[in-house]
Amino acid sequence: MVAEVLAALRPAPGGRYVDGTIGGAGHAAAILAASSPTGWLWGCDRDGAAIEAARSRLAGFAGRFELRQANFAELAEWVPPESCDGVLLDLGISSPQLDEAGRGFSFQLDGPLDMRMDQRQAETAARWVNEAGVEELARLFWELGGERRARQLARVIARERERRRFATTRQLADLIERWAPRGGRKAHPATRVFQALRMAVNDEIGSLQQGLAKALRVLKPGGRLVVITFHSLEDRLVKEFGRARARDYSFPGTVDVPALRAPRAPELRWVNRKAIRTSAAEAAANPRSRSAQLRVLEKLGGTNDADLEQNSR
Ligand SMILES: C[S@@+](CC[C@H](N)C(=O)[O-])C[C@H]1O[C@@H](n2cnc3c(N)ncnc32)[C@H](O)[C@@H]1O
Repeated sequence: MVAEVLAALRPAPGGRYVDGTIGGAGHAAAILAASSPTGWLWGCDRDGAAIEAARSRLAGFAGRFELRQANFAELAEWVPPESCDGVLLDLGISSPQLDEAGRGFSFQLDGPLDMRMDQRQAETAARWVNEAGVEELARLFWELGGERRARQLARVIARERERRRFATTRQLADLIERWAPRGGRKAHPATRVFQALRMAVNDEIGSLQQGLAKALRVLKPGGRLVVITFHSLEDRLVKEFGRARARDYSFPGTVDVPALRAPRAPELRWVNRKAIRTSAAEAAANPRSRSAQLRVLEKLGGTNDADLEQNSR
């Protein structure tokens, strides 16, 4: 979605941008090219290998960017407040992560049950699968994976791990396939479980919740926040964040009672009411992009973090 991202961010010479999910730096290179010769980019990724790949991809833009291995939830710790014209968050995992068996993200490749984006982190998918309680696993498969028979599957896993601990992706994928044979369905039965585990291992929902607030803090008034999501839970979170901060009133507690509303200046506005979807041509060329949704928000004034703590839900 490079064209859509550029149209939303409108990079220009002298502009300052953040790519919070730099990956292989495809978007970052396009932002730096479009803001030549003086545009600046702060880039981060939780994955050290992505930072290395990005550094070599961006070599031609030397002196115009700073990269860090970091979670975008910590953006405001190193990017100055109200300094940016645009922030991009392109969520999920990258093709190099998915295609490397040793990272453990794919149920189609045999590798360690790892799934950490940041390999300095201690917690792996094997820890979740071998040590989480049945209720905790069931909740995870249901809430993050939308797996309908979540509790039943959690019990099957708990029984199996008493016999032999889970160490590899294949071990888990094979068990799920034996438990729920694919039949004629296209999707592998382990798809939802692997997605749920990946999101839990990397606390993707928690990071997004914090990252949105931090992105708003580093944006200048008039700056834009562009978010690409691949999961309905993430998209809902972006929508709720935008809705709460676009309100021109606050209210006490968590229920919006009209009589208790107090006026206040909205912090942002929606640039597009509806999410932008991948074009048919891009979806055909890159099937992984099919579920992508892009949303664009524009910062209006300063941030009122204090009253939003309660009203952002
Ligand atoms: C879809 S890829 C981004 C691809 C990138 N836009 C490009 O043009 O190559 C998502 C990347 O975001 C990173 N990521 C996901 N959540 C993150 C977070 N909370 N903080 C920093 N990086 C994150 C992943 O490690 C992965 O490299």
